[in-house]
Amino acid sequence: MKSPFPILTADEAAAMVSNGDIIGFSGFTPAGAAKAVPKAIAARAKAEHAAGRPFKIGVITGASTGPSLDGELAKADAVLFRTPYQSNPDLRKKINAGEVQFFDMHLSQLPQTVRYGFLGKVKFAIVEACEVFPNGEIVLTTSVGASNTFCNVADKIIIELNAAQTSALRGFHDIYEPRDPPYRREIPLYTVRDRIGSTVVKVDPSRIAGVVQTNQADESGLFEEPNEATTRIGRNVANFLAAERRRGTIPAPFLPIQSGVGDIANAVLAAMGENPDIPPFEMYSEVLQDSVFKLIQSGKLTFASTTAITVSPAMAKEFYSNLDFYRSRIVLRPQEISNNPEIVRRLGIISINAGIEADIFGNINSTHVLGTSMMNGIGGSGDFTRNAFISIFVCPALQKGGKISTIVPLVSHTDHSEHSVQVIITDQGIADLRGKSPNERARLIADNCAHPDFREPLRQYLELNHSGQTPQSLRNAFAFHRQFMETGDMRGVKMT
Ligand code: COA
Repeated sequence: MKSPFPILTADEAAAMVSNGDIIGFSGFTPAGAAKAVPKAIAARAKAEHAAGRPFKIGVITGASTGPSLDGELAKADAVLFRTPYQSNPDLRKKINAGEVQFFDMHLSQLPQTVRYGFLGKVKFAIVEACEVFPNGEIVLTTSVGASNTFCNVADKIIIELNAAQTSALRGFHDIYEPRDPPYRREIPLYTVRDRIGSTVVKVDPSRIAGVVQTNQADESGLFEEPNEATTRIGRNVANFLAAERRRGTIPAPFLPIQSGVGDIANAVLAAMGENPDIPPFEMYSEVLQDSVFKLIQSGKLTFASTTAITVSPAMAKEFYSNLDFYRSRIVLRPQEISNNPEIVRRLGIISINAGIEADIFGNINSTHVLGTSMMNGIGGSGDFTRNAFISIFVCPALQKGGKISTIVPLVSHTDHSEHSVQVIITDQGIADLRGKSPNERARLIADNCAHPDFREPLRQYLELNHSGQTPQSLRNAFAFHRQFMETGDMRGVKMT
């Protein structure tokens, strides 16, 4: 098809960008992320810096992206600020060195925050597409994220038209954007399968500044096979959910599942797939990983709503070879809808997310190692946790070869408070915190979830501090962390 829009090289597109511009890039995980233009912007930044001129841009995306975007821009010192989420090692280093200003946001809120103008004027939307039509219809690829919003608010749009993605992806997307207050109405989505929007992003074609032709697969990596700890966590989650269904708190037809990203999430879904007491179910989640596709193939998962398809190269091949099979079983929504608190509460979603550490009162740290170093960000975990029918957090009881207990007296950073967290599950066991006082919760988490190496100091913590509604000790609250900082090992920690 002859393009009605100027065909640009990635360098020509990058040359349109000025120092200080704010750019909305497509990408939610490496899925559907812009690749060629951010790489060219990074090269431009390096050249500008070499010539003694400043060059940095504000980088907004759906969530994390791939190495061509976050990695290249970070290495080129081209990032003025970054939001809402990241997971790239080069960018993480710059953030923790204070060289990049990162603000960690609930992913459902990002699009409206951009629309409200809170983050400044978005100059360019740079989005990956598998097809673009003369009338301004854009077919996105393996993620939606916030691309629809970026396209709507940006002064100009640059399309990365990726030949490695097939135009047969048309029909997977359901693009819907709510109106802003005071005109917002309810989002008319009442089941996981409902379609409420359009299969394309529609823009005024005069705002499309050009098309860059690319041919590059998503930069998604491989997943680890479940290990002993993640397998046990998975079984504990599946057994807990099966028991809840048997006792009737989860309705017999089951409720939609949201599951976080990473190897623990893959292990949890695999265990749910194997548990005969869990019936075929649906997912309302933000990312679909390999384990989800295996569940769809086996018939255990009947439908999945998401904003991104983030799979290994092998699973991507399987997906593209069977698009018609998956078309009736998967829908790709904007993150504003896939993670929407109103919908999460309406559908009664069971959320399952991983944490870095949990304290004995039920607070969760999802983001900061030892309270200071950013790992990735809160992502969608808050969108789901705060509004879930049952909110579950999972983590292995130990990290770093047993030197770190993930169950601590007080988390070193709080992302999810005791008021939102209902169940904590580790490889050691399950703490169901619903209807429990802080004292009861503390004993349950110490006894059921902590590794045996750390149960005694946690019990001591409680024995030494038994006054008040929440038996906290400001003297010992960070004893585990302090000892790790001093000796590199939490084992043997003493309460005073
Ligand atoms: N102290 C120090 N390091 C810790 C730690 C702790 N308490 N807990 C985890 N880590 C380290 C691990 O050792 C590992 O390090 P490595 O990469 O050097 O091996 C890394 O953090 C990842 O932990 P892992 O156990 O492999 O689990 P994961 O890949 O599932 O990631 C989170 C866990 C919490 C970092 C990840 O789930 C996350 O970023 N969550 C926040 C966003 C979110 O919930 N998104 C989903 C919402 S839909």
